[in-house]
Amino acid sequence: MDQLIPVETLSREDAKAELLRLASVLSEANAAYHTADAPQMSDAEFDALKGRNAAIEARFPDLVRSDSPALQVGAAPADGFSKVAHAVRMLSLGNAFEDDDVREFDQSVRSYLGLAADAPLAYSAEPKIDGLSLSLRYERGVLVQAATRGDGSVGENVTANARTVAGVPDRIDGAPDVLEVRGEVYMSHADFAALNARILAEHAADLSAGKKPPRTFANPRNAAAGSLRQLDARITQKRPLMFFAYAWGEVSDPLADTQMGAIARLGEFGFSINELTRLCDTADDMLTQYRLIEAQRATLGYDIDGVVYKVNDLGYQKRLGFRSTTPRWAIAHKFPAELAWTRLEAIDIQVGRTGALSPVARLTPVTVGGVVVSNATLHNEDYIAGRDSTGGAIRDGRDIRVGDWVQVFRAGDVIPKIADVDLSKRAADSVAFAFPTTCPICGSAAVREEGDSVRRCTGGMACAAQAIEKLKHFVSRAAFDIEGLGAKQVEQFYEDGWIRNAADIFDLKEKYGSGLQQLKNREGWGDKSAENLFQAIEDKRRIPLNRFLFSLGIRHLGEVAAATLARHFHGWTALMQTIDAAAREPSAQAVEAKERKAALANSPNWSELVSVDGIGDTVIRTLVTAMSQPAERAMIDELAARLDIEDVAAPASDGSPVAGKTVVFTGTLEKMTRAEAKARAESLGAKVSGSVSAKTDLLVAGPGAGSKAKKAAELGIETLDEDGWLDLIGQA
Ligand code: IVH
Repeated sequence: MDQLIPVETLSREDAKAELLRLASVLSEANAAYHTADAPQMSDAEFDALKGRNAAIEARFPDLVRSDSPALQVGAAPADGFSKVAHAVRMLSLGNAFEDDDVREFDQSVRSYLGLAADAPLAYSAEPKIDGLSLSLRYERGVLVQAATRGDGSVGENVTANARTVAGVPDRIDGAPDVLEVRGEVYMSHADFAALNARILAEHAADLSAGKKPPRTFANPRNAAAGSLRQLDARITQKRPLMFFAYAWGEVSDPLADTQMGAIARLGEFGFSINELTRLCDTADDMLTQYRLIEAQRATLGYDIDGVVYKVNDLGYQKRLGFRSTTPRWAIAHKFPAELAWTRLEAIDIQVGRTGALSPVARLTPVTVGGVVVSNATLHNEDYIAGRDSTGGAIRDGRDIRVGDWVQVFRAGDVIPKIADVDLSKRAADSVAFAFPTTCPICGSAAVREEGDSVRRCTGGMACAAQAIEKLKHFVSRAAFDIEGLGAKQVEQFYEDGWIRNAADIFDLKEKYGSGLQQLKNREGWGDKSAENLFQAIEDKRRIPLNRFLFSLGIRHLGEVAAATLARHFHGWTALMQTIDAAAREPSAQAVEAKERKAALANSPNWSELVSVDGIGDTVIRTLVTAMSQPAERAMIDELAARLDIEDVAAPASDGSPVAGKTVVFTGTLEKMTRAEAKARAESLGAKVSGSVSAKTDLLVAGPGAGSKAKKAAELGIETLDEDGWLDLIGQA
């Protein structure tokens, strides 16, 4: 596979493997360049690979490696930072791009908290600093540890380096016994320019000796990251880094009641806090503040990439809590996307795991906001044709053709898009793009179901592209996560016919491992790696139900839905019995969603499946359909027969009186919203269901409760009012 997979279409697992490959290729090239004086590749090639690395990192910021080539300058430092587990996870922020996104954020906060549109609710607004986040742990006022964010749970120990950063005090007075201060390390524009000038000057002698110029940093953020992450703190000391404090992790005593108050206290302890931070009383105030900060962007002297809004009341922040990776109480309002015009050279069609045909624009490379873009998404055939999903015109109906002059749009970390087309530059002989109706990989018909904007290959596992993507998904981190079996290996094994479906993975050793000879003989495999792979595969024969379900790659069945189903049914057998029974019920036979709903009363198993809270009709329909397709089912059964699928228990919630119980909320809740009640119940290990059945343990009924309360009474199910519920969970 010499052809590089376009960054926009890399799966997560591919991206991970590619970042690993690029880190090693670039570090070798770098070492050869600096130490061996024998460059392995041209500067243009080096820069192209570095650009590819940056583009992948921009798409998957959480996959950025500790040895990322973006962080390297000069010879790559040996790996060597110890790891630090964060006491409180370091999360990222959700993004807003439009004014309406900010208004929606305000509304969602209000609705979660049950506040009326005109109830007072203040937010802080502050610049979003474009650097890298750092967590500083103080115990009894002494800096004991500094850590980078890493993957959010585990970062790198950069204590010695952090001590050299301006604005990071070694000691602080009057602080709680334990205080983790969080903020951003950054480099000013002036210091960045001076640093690059210094790097060039230090290599002046090399230059005059005819050697290649040294590599400088591409932007202040890379410079800050590369400087903080030097193994030798003496180098960091020579780099002019600065720090703004804007958040905290573990604290033994609350800093204040409000965000603004807490930040002011960090200021009193001696940390730099951003002077553009303001309190806003309304969404309109936030937008005004955004415009004010944006207007000053060019003159601040350091890079910012947006404005962060945070709910000011820390009591509210606590109630709002977090989604899986972002807080509900804050959002980053990004500055507008960067735009550039370039030529559309070709439209390639890629086939994904679920058979979706995705058009990818191949562009004459162009720099958009500091990043070289040569691929962009074209979404689907309607988008190319200038139609939206309802048939209405987009771009005033202008279609996009190969050879066109197109506008590339890049916002934050998202995949670049083609936003517009310049018809005045269109060649007279250009022809409209004909979207394929057969799969470009396997030739099967590619069909569009009614209401679906995507055309899909019908080849299933017989289509190499689908099969490979499914396998990549199967071995990916959130699924089987088999060490040593990544995207590249899956492709290799697939092409050789060793692995054609997931079950084959578990027969690999038996079939091809005879004396390991066959595998060992292959390129890239040695004794050790072959043994390790077989062991890694053995280790994964035992797999928790949620991971197993997710690994099947069934459309709509994501990580969260898989986990929810696993928690509800506990075991594979129980789930499959329900699915198989549901497949024979009237709801499964109904085509229209409305009919399925109407048939629920006579479909007890289907209705149990769709009443699992958080699981909708769509997931169940695809799941039941997939399990009823003989070929797909046979493959899943074959796979399951090779595994030991572990039951999943309700989440551990020590001492929780509702752990493992199925709770239904009905009627009006007065002290909290439904969303909040549900989130709290789940955090205590309860299962929240949307309907009352014999399996319900507890009904929480507010005023206005109707049929559910009646049914619970008939079934003799314990019923509490809201106060009774709060008493029970100890949060009255
Ligand atoms: S608050 C739980 N405030 O942006 C949320 N983050 O895109 C804690 N960042 O990981 C983050 N300026 O590295 C916050 N004023 C600011 C920020 C800021 C920059 C960074 C931070 C975070 C990332 C999220």
